[in-house]
Amino acid sequence: MTTIGIIGAGHIGSQVARKAVEIGYDVVISNSRGPETLGDLVAELGPKARAATAAEAAAAGDFAVVTVPLKNIGDIPAEPLAGKIVVDTNNYYWERDGRIAALDNGEATTSGMLQDLLPQSKVAKGFNHIMYTQITTDGTPAGTDNRRALATASDYPEAAELVTRLYDEFGFDTVNIGPLSESWRVERDRPAYGSRQNAEELRENLAKAPRTL
Ligand SMILES: NC(=O)c1ccc[n+]([C@@H]2O[C@H](COP(=O)([O-])OP(=O)(O)OC[C@H]3O[C@@H](n4cnc5c(N)ncnc54)[C@H](OP(=O)(O)O)[C@@H]3O)[C@@H](O)[C@H]2O)c1
Repeated sequence: MTTIGIIGAGHIGSQVARKAVEIGYDVVISNSRGPETLGDLVAELGPKARAATAAEAAAAGDFAVVTVPLKNIGDIPAEPLAGKIVVDTNNYYWERDGRIAALDNGEATTSGMLQDLLPQSKVAKGFNHIMYTQITTDGTPAGTDNRRALATASDYPEAAELVTRLYDEFGFDTVNIGPLSESWRVERDRPAYGSRQNAEELRENLAKAPRTL
């Protein structure tokens, strides 16, 4: 049985938890306010889910999903995530996160910033360019004509492979962008961001992305 430690229980975290439980994962899910505030969600998710602190979720997970606002990634507990794959859903919304010069200037990537904070973990980008509602509605079986594709990127092939498997189980094809240094191609307001694409369309949109906006 594989356990996913989920840090962040908002729009994306709760939806990832719903789909993960549906397809057989155990989840340990956390937020900033404490497990006692997640009673309704874990009741809905059932016996394969429990609420915990972020550090406990990180420790319990065979791998983790980090899905908090970018401005809060400095709080993610590094030690219990050491040696683990961390799927990062982050996007940069300067209106929420404040201006980050290295992102504005095209010198950094959002997932690269998390990797820098978690040097002993293997960060892979995931679920950043799908609206949260669609995580449970848009998946289709492998081989379906025009299946929706999602992008990943990682400096660790095994992390990109895990996301590829997870996407497939969730009902999506994968396009692997390559290292995190290239993951800006799927960041906010690039052509691949938001809209529904199959793998071929996603590859085309990633290729034509501008480095800065
Ligand atoms: N919404 C979308 O459709 C979408 C799609 C793709 C990617 N994203 C990106 O994914 C990330 C999460 O988005 P979201 O829409 O799910 O955000 P959200 O609904 O605002 O939820 C954020 C969650 O993170 C938790 N959190 C905040 N700081 C934390 C900390 N220090 N430790 C543990 N948990 C913490 C919050 O807990 P509390 O409520 O207790 O503070 C909340 O459960 C963002 O970077 C967003 O841009 C969003």
